[in-house]
Amino acid sequence: MQSSITVRVPAKVNAQLAVGGRRSDGYHGVASVFFSVGLYDEVTVTPADRLRITVAGTDAAFVPTDPSNLAARAALLLGARYGIEPNVHLHIDKGIPVAGGMAGGSADGAAALVGCDALWGTGADRSVLLELAAELGSDVPFSLTGGVALGEGRGERLTPVPTAGSFHWVFATAEGGLSTPAVYGECDRLRELTGGSSDTEVPVPATDPALLEALRTGDPGALGAALRNDLQAAALSLRPALADTLRAGTDAGAIGALVSGSGPTCAFVAKDAAAAAALAAALTASGTCRTARPAEGPVPGAVLVRRPLVP
Ligand code: C5P
Repeated sequence: MQSSITVRVPAKVNAQLAVGGRRSDGYHGVASVFFSVGLYDEVTVTPADRLRITVAGTDAAFVPTDPSNLAARAALLLGARYGIEPNVHLHIDKGIPVAGGMAGGSADGAAALVGCDALWGTGADRSVLLELAAELGSDVPFSLTGGVALGEGRGERLTPVPTAGSFHWVFATAEGGLSTPAVYGECDRLRELTGGSSDTEVPVPATDPALLEALRTGDPGALGAALRNDLQAAALSLRPALADTLRAGTDAGAIGALVSGSGPTCAFVAKDAAAAAALAAALTASGTCRTARPAEGPVPGAVLVRRPLVP
């Protein structure tokens, strides 16, 4: 058995997040085009006398280290499935914004599944890992697979989306996070003002063919024009200052702008790497965000990191 396993796992942005009405189980049906991007968390799994979690990186203080952490829940779930005591130390190195709408918590859950599976030698089938991932959270299966995928149901039912080449994004992070349930709740509240929020009152969510075509042909301009997020109005309602961030990015030459998932991170499309670097610098200088970082995608999902052994 290896003494320690490190898994690297990317963030996601939803190039499209179409949100249906609230279902009877409290979730919302979605048609989500998940897009994995090169901002990463690393989760290192080491045998220990009990399950424990430590966290490093920006905003580490806001990440729970109790069993509510998705990485801990992943270790418990996989251990229960294979009859293994989940006595591991999970160390999470955060590069993904915390509570930022980029699936950072889901990423850590996916990474812990892959890391514990490798450490324990459980050899779980991919289908079992995906099933456990869906149990952990709506976005966790996508954190396992990465790439670009259409997520249906509550986001856990994935179909790969063909893409050409690489796209250049910039992510503007905000001070403080937004709670995903709070943003969905605000979306319902806003919909109640104009006709209802249940799944019998809101149209079934659907993907935009123009977005799929932009991805298939690798056209950043068409991608920028096709970005859409049904949670954006709710995120802006809870955090009005995000409108300034979106405007600053568009003024600085972004060819597409939207709130990432439930926010508050704002995502922008640039035409190439140089434009993304310039846009990130302009956004950081604008004072409308905490910091802005360029990232390319798509990238693979949770993968084991091979490092040379230290003698
Ligand atoms: O699945 P996950 O635990 O990540 O979801 C967190 C919360 O976000 C849910 O409890 C629900 O309030 C909201 N949510 C939703 N519809 C989805 C996904 C999440 O309402 N499709």
